[in-house]
This record gives sequence, structure tokens and C-alpha cells, in this order.
Amino acid sequence: MILRVPVSRLYPLILVTALMLWYWERQLHPLPVPPQRSPRMGAKTRLLILSTWRSGSTFVGQLFSQNPEVFYLMEPIWYIWMHESHKTPLLMHEPARDLLKSLFLCDISALKPYLEEANFLSDIFMFYESRALCSPPACNAFQRSDIVDRVKCLKDCGQVLFTKIEEACKTYSHIVMKTVRFLDLNVLYPLLRDPSLNLTIIHLVRDPRAIFSSRQYLNLNRSNEIISKGRNSEANVSLVMQEVCKAQVRIYNASRASPPPFPRDRYHLVRFEDLAKDPLAYLKAWYQILGLSMSSKLESWVHNISQQESPVDEVVLPIRRDSRKVSQAWRENLSFQKVKDIQNLCKQDMEVFGYQLVWSEEEQKDMLRELVVPQKGFQEGY
Ligand SMILES: *[C@@H]1O[C@H](CO)[C@@H](O)[C@H](O)[C@H]1NC(C)=O
Ligand SMILES: *[C@@H]1O[C@H](CO)[C@@H](O)[C@H](O)[C@H]1NC(C)=O
Ligand SMILES: *[C@@H]1O[C@H](CO)[C@@H](O)[C@H](O)[C@H]1NC(C)=O
Ligand SMILES: *[C@@H]1O[C@H](CO)[C@@H](O)[C@H](O)[C@H]1NC(C)=O
Ligand SMILES: *[C@@H]1O[C@H](CO)[C@@H](O)[C@H](O)[C@H]1NC(C)=O
Repeated sequence: MILRVPVSRLYPLILVTALMLWYWERQLHPLPVPPQRSPRMGAKTRLLILSTWRSGSTFVGQLFSQNPEVFYLMEPIWYIWMHESHKTPLLMHEPARDLLKSLFLCDISALKPYLEEANFLSDIFMFYESRALCSPPACNAFQRSDIVDRVKCLKDCGQVLFTKIEEACKTYSHIVMKTVRFLDLNVLYPLLRDPSLNLTIIHLVRDPRAIFSSRQYLNLNRSNEIISKGRNSEANVSLVMQEVCKAQVRIYNASRASPPPFPRDRYHLVRFEDLAKDPLAYLKAWYQILGLSMSSKLESWVHNISQQESPVDEVVLPIRRDSRKVSQAWRENLSFQKVKDIQNLCKQDMEVFGYQLVWSEEEQKDMLRELVVPQKGFQEGY
């Protein structure tokens, strides 16, 4: 039988049905209410901290993770890289993007194909970096509003059931993740364009000379992944650095494309050196953009961890080494020859992000000489 009613007459009926369905759904699955404030109906705000190795992204991740309204996961793409270590990074881009999307929607089961076991929190790589996984409803070791101590969380929360992760995720208004494993931005356009995801990106860059200086003391195998297929093959530091630098420019270039490939205000560039000078100012601006609130406890904590003078608590937060003064440490630690090499490998990166080249050892060691060219505020982009 054909309905002869004009469609517009049906609108009230559709509306009432939708409302009833909505009401019914809420009765079955009431929205959990976090202690601080209730998120707008189902709407979550999402943030991806996009960076590369040794650029301060663990630090930035912590600045968000410790906020009581944020569910944070550190480097979820790591699982794909470990699991698919025979593939080149570019081949992992799409699976990585899809995994991010699932996790942003709190579908934590999307991790399972990449994990050997998924029974406990301890099966999650560095779960204790996430305050949300160390406090209710995931674990009772801390209050949601506490500043979490990683060691205690590792000890007390490791045996929490894996299923708690999803339960916890759903109770937060903000979901934040950080990754150092995207070499381009194009692959993320579908997420950035999706209004229902409401995704913002903070792109964190750092002076390649400082990255290298920090990198040379590390096990290179992890970052070597970006150029080689096997995890155990010999690292070619030059190639790694070159690829790291190129990727940062590529990402930035993509964000500036005209016409914009996604709403411009979804991309924010920040240099680690600027952030290290005044982390609190940046954090306040970011919190405002994302609708997060700052507490006096958080403010005091950020102040404490970014002060050179306060005692170094490497265990709780191994980020202090990268504080303000140390962002220039490469100038003493690297030979001029190495500096020249990096400058050659990363010329475009340094030009684009405003890192001045040095032409002599004297210039390099002259600490009064500013090598980070002031740039316009991060909020407008450069
Ligand atoms: C790294 O690769 C570059 C470019 O292919 C090459 O010139 C250089 O000799 C390599 N270095 C090492 C240590 O293998
Ligand atoms: C970035 O854009 C500039 C100017 O359009 C171009 O010259 C450069 O090759 C691009 N670099 C990369 C890595 O895409
Ligand atoms: C999307 O996120 C922004 C912050 O980036 C927030 O102000 C806005 O309310 C969010 N929109 C929805 C529909 O959740
Ligand atoms: C910051 O340091 C001061 C002095 O050491 C201490 O009293 C305060 O509790 C610290 N704040 C936080 C949130 O850890
Ligand atoms: C780098 O230089 C700083 C200060 O010049 C020094 O304290 C530090 O030990 C050096 N770091 C490394 C890893 O050599």
C-alpha cells in the first residue's frame, strides 16, 4: 500500500519516534557522569598529538593525560609497527589511521589483533602513562583528580581487566592520543573532516639538531623502523634524520594546502623550544581551544615539572631532561661536523620551522645567539 500522506506531515511522527528511541537508549545505557562536568550528549572532543621521536611528545601527552576530563592513550600505533614489522611505514599508514579512529570511538577491541594477549592493563604498552587507566572506573589506586604517580600505577593497576579500558574511555568528554608514527597528514584527512569525530591535531616539531643530539644516546632501532623493514637491520642515522625532517615538512605543507583539505582550525603547530619556555601558557591556550578546565593543582604541577630548580623525579616523569635549558643542550653536546651534517640533511625543515643554521663552531657555542627565530603565535599557525 502506498502512503498518500505528504512527507512533511510525517515530521512530527519521526521526531517523536526519534525522541522515544533516544529516551529508551538512555534508559538502557545511561550516560555516565564524570565527577567534574558532564559531557554534552555523546559528543566527545578528540585530540591527536602528532610528532616525531625525541621531540617532547611524551611531555605534551602528560600535560593532557593528567587532566581529570581526559582519557589518554600513548602511542597506540606502536602495536601495528611491532606486529607488522616486515612492512614499510607507508604501508602501515591506513591501518594506523583506522586503529586511531576505532580507539577515538572507545572501541578498544580494535587493539586485539595486534596484541598477543589482551587480558590485563599490563598488556597495554606503557598504560601507566595514562592517568585515566590509573583511576576509576579503570583502577582505584588514584582519584580522577589526582596527579598520578606512574610507579604506583604500574604496581597497583597492572592486573586490572582489559575490558575496563573501554568502560573507562566511555566516561570521558575528551580523548587524547599521541603518536610519532605518521609521516604524512593526507592519510588523516578523513578523520579531520569528520565532524562527528571533532578531531584537532597538535603538531609538535623540534630543532633537528636537538633531536639528533638526544637520539644519539638512544637505542636507534626503534626510530630506525621508519626507513627499514626489519627491526634489527643496521641503522643509518643520516637516512633516519632525513626522513624524520622530511615528514615534518610534509605534514606542515599538507596543513597549508589551498584550498584547505580540512577546517584550518583543526591543526595547530608548536615548536618544542617555544613550549619549553612557557608550557603553562601553551597549555592554558590549548585547554581553552578544547574546552578543558585548568585546576590550581594541575597548574602547580605543570609549574613544578617545568622548573629547572625543582628536584628531578625521573621515575615519575622522565621529561625534565627536556626542560628549557636542555632544549639548547645540543649546542654543547654535538660536534660542529655533526651539526653541519644535520643542517645539510634537514635544510628545508629548519627553514620552514625557523631554526637558524650555524656556520662555525663559535656561532654554535655562543649561547647568546638565538637560533630559534621568533614566529607568530601558534594559534594562527605560522
Ligand atoms: C647512509 O646512507 C647514505 C645515503 O644513502 C650514505 O651516503 C651513507 O654512506 C650511509 N651511511 C652509513 C653509515 O651507512
Ligand atoms: C613543501 O612545500 C614547499 C613549497 O610549496 C615545497 O617546495 C617543498 O618541496 C615541500 N616539501 C615537502 C617535503 O613536501
Ligand atoms: C568540538 O570540539 C571543540 C573543541 O575543539 C568544542 O568546543 C566543541 O564543543 C566540540 N563540539 C562538539 C559537537 O562536541
Ligand atoms: C609543587 O611543588 C611544591 C613545592 O615542592 C609542592 O608543595 C606542591 O605540592 C607541588 N604541586 C604538585 C601538584 O605536585
Ligand atoms: C649534554 O650537555 C649537558 C650540558 O652541556 C650535559 O650536562 C649533559 O650531560 C650532556 N648530555 C649528554 C647525554 O651527553
